[in-house]
Amino acid sequence: MKSKNISIQYREYGRADELSADQKRIVDAAIEETKKSYAPYSKFHVGAAILLEDGSVISGNNQENAAFPSGLCAERVAIFYAMAKNPDLKIKSIAIAASVNGVICQDPVYPCGACRQVMLEYRTKGREKMEIITVGRDRIEVFEDIDSLLPFSFSDIPE
Ligand code: THU
Repeated sequence: MKSKNISIQYREYGRADELSADQKRIVDAAIEETKKSYAPYSKFHVGAAILLEDGSVISGNNQENAAFPSGLCAERVAIFYAMAKNPDLKIKSIAIAASVNGVICQDPVYPCGACRQVMLEYRTKGREKMEIITVGRDRIEVFEDIDSLLPFSFSDIPE
């Protein structure tokens, strides 16, 4: 028997002005996007903004439904729209923010398992790193690649 460990690395920023201009652009877009989310049931308003390799930004927010499973997370709304409209472009970076009662949450919000799997799909296709930026009120975290948020992932049927 062998006991093994894995570790993940991420960067924590106390202030948004320490981010690059592109990172700041999608952080601001994700925060702005929370205002348009449709979340009458959870009242948890999530915004996601994607930076594509051509520099364009596409954002989305969570959309809920009276038949609960029919809603969709902000990340997947943004990713599916971005990929439907730009199938040949790679996703460079995704920022995620959430608010309750109009106030951005203190702690960063992390993507759910299903969203991580969807992110990984397009990252695998692109064969380049996909950065994830999680936004809290007083701190922002940057994960260099989606891999670190979904270790031991299922990515293909093994040969
Ligand atoms: N939600 C997201 O949009 N993204 C996440 O990463 C976590 C959860 C949404 C789904 C639902 O509308 C609400 O937040 C409460 O779970």
